[in-house]
Order: sequence, then C-alpha cells, then structure tokens
Amino acid sequence: MFVFKAAVVGAGTMGGEIACALASADIPVVLKDVDRGFVDQGLEKARSIWQGSVDAGKLPAEAVEQRMALIDGTTVYDGFGDVDFVIEAVPERMEIKQDVFAELDLVTPGHAILASNTSALSISEMADATSRPDKVVGFHFFYPASMMRLVEVIEGDETSTETVQAAVSLAQTIRKLPIRCAEAPGFVVNRILNSSFGEVFRFQEEHGFSYEEVDAAMADAKASPMGPFYLVDLLGLDTVAHVGRHLNDSFGDRFPLHRGMLERVERGDLGAKTGRGFYEHGK
Ligand SMILES: NC(=O)c1ccc[n+]([C@@H]2O[C@H](COP(=O)([O-])OP(=O)(O)OC[C@H]3O[C@@H](n4cnc5c(N)ncnc54)[C@H](O)[C@@H]3O)[C@@H](O)[C@H]2O)c1
Repeated sequence: MFVFKAAVVGAGTMGGEIACALASADIPVVLKDVDRGFVDQGLEKARSIWQGSVDAGKLPAEAVEQRMALIDGTTVYDGFGDVDFVIEAVPERMEIKQDVFAELDLVTPGHAILASNTSALSISEMADATSRPDKVVGFHFFYPASMMRLVEVIEGDETSTETVQAAVSLAQTIRKLPIRCAEAPGFVVNRILNSSFGEVFRFQEEHGFSYEEVDAAMADAKASPMGPFYLVDLLGLDTVAHVGRHLNDSFGDRFPLHRGMLERVERGDLGAKTGRGFYEHGK
C-alpha cells in the first residue's frame, strides 16, 4: 500500500519530530494534538530542524516553506478522512491510547493503518479498541525521530502480514531502518538500553554519586553521546519511568527502578519538557 497522506496524533516530544520525518520524504501529514500550544510547538520543531539543515548547507532555503506547507497542524479530526497511515504519539497510558484508537477507527477510511509509537504497551490491547485489529501495528521511532534511523515495527496478535509489509515499506520510504519485533516487553531496543541503564541507575543510587558525575564519566568513556541522566531529561522522565516499570513488572530486579526518577515524576518534574528533571532547563 502506498502512503499518499499520513497523520500524527500527539504533538509532544515525539509528534513534531515524526511529522518532520514524514514531510521530509514529501508525504503530506496532519499533525493533531488536543492543545493548540503543542501543535504550534510541533510545527516549530519541524521548522527548526529544516532551518538547521539550511544553515548547514544541506538543504536549499526554499525547502523549509515547501515542507512546512506539507504539515497541517490541527486540534480537530478534520483532514483525517483521506489518510492512509496514522501514527499515534500520545502519552504512554493505555486508557488514553485506547480512546484515541477508538476515535481514529471512526474518523479514518477503512483501509487506513493505525500505528502506535508506544515504547512498551501492548499493540493488541490498542487494537481491541478498533474494528480493524488486522490494521493496527507498532511503529516505534527513537528520539530524535528526525535523525534516528531505527524504527521498530511491532506485530500485535492480529496484525496482518499486509499491514506489517506496509509499515516496513513506509519506514523505508522515509529513509528509516525498520526491524520487525514481537510484542515482548521493551521490544528490542528498550530491553537492551534499559538493561545497561538499570545498572547505571542502581550504581548511582547505591554510591550516591551526583548525576553530573555519572554523566561526565559516561561521556568521557565515550560510552554514549551524552550521559544517561541528561538523555532521560530529553526523553521525558514519565516516558522512561513507564518503560522501566513495565520491564520491572515483567522481569523483576534485572531491571531496577530509579527512586530519584520516580520521585521527580511524582512531583511533575518530567525533564526538558517541563523545564526541570535531573537538570534545570531553560524554556
Ligand atoms: N519521548 C521519547 O523519547 C519517546 C521515544 C520513543 C517513543 N515514545 C513514545 O511516544 C509516545 C509519546 O511520547 P512523548 O514523549 O512524545 O509524549 P509527550 O508527553 O511529550 O507528548 C504527548 C502529547 O500528546 C498530546 N495528547 C494527549 N492526549 C491526546 C489526545 N487524546 N489526542 C491528541 N493528542 C493528545 C499531549 O497534549 C502531548 O502534546 C509515547 O507512547 C512514548 O512512549 C517516546
């Protein structure tokens, strides 16, 4: 199936980036959020990514407006009547996702594939909220989605082979590298990432090192482009904590939880998106 038009639901940390990745491949995309402020933030995110490419001499200046014209930012479902592929990127809570999938089932054409950017939740449970479980699939980007090449394509219990093929093909069209995964806790990447981060979290809390010390040591060791605590701030503490809980529930202490992270989530200090997490962030 060719994707002539796509939609992204949720314009937070991931939504604007995903819309940018789609429009960069000349696919028109509707970007919807419940909050106009987040829609505008998502549009601004896409613009700043393309402007960065212009500044680096990698994109002609006129491409920014041409690509911006491909993204239709909205707070309503107008514009979903002729979409072929929708990517849901709302908060990592099953009840919110199921409400969105039930709405999408009503407002999109019958052939449209409904995909979720979930980091950990069950695709099959989201599919249960629709009348087309064969057309529901996981389509999991990594932050920042405009740059990171990997996309996990996750098969639910009833996802059809045609749907998986269409998802793989869309990922390739937007120049990503799809890998197919089963609906297992953490899928592939978060299972691997959290097994190493879990050890860092345990070590930091047991020895009382500061977040800065741990991040600096990891950066010095060239273990990753930035330390784990700073990365968690960018990803969103609520999202990372949710994945951590899911893995901890599934596998126990092999995936330890970080108490400092859970306390911050409790207080609403979710990282860069709220201005404070392990670090302070300017707006
Ligand atoms: N943050 C990451 O690094 C990351 C990486 C990969 C996958 N994910 C996954 O992507 C999804 C979104 O994560 P995020 O970090 O972008 O979350 P976020 O909290 O930054 O953004 C979520 C957005 O969804 C909007 N929203 C809430 N209810 C809505 C509804 N009913 N309809 C439309 N919009 C609605 C919110 O207003 C908000 O703008 C989650 O499933 C998460 O697990 C996140």
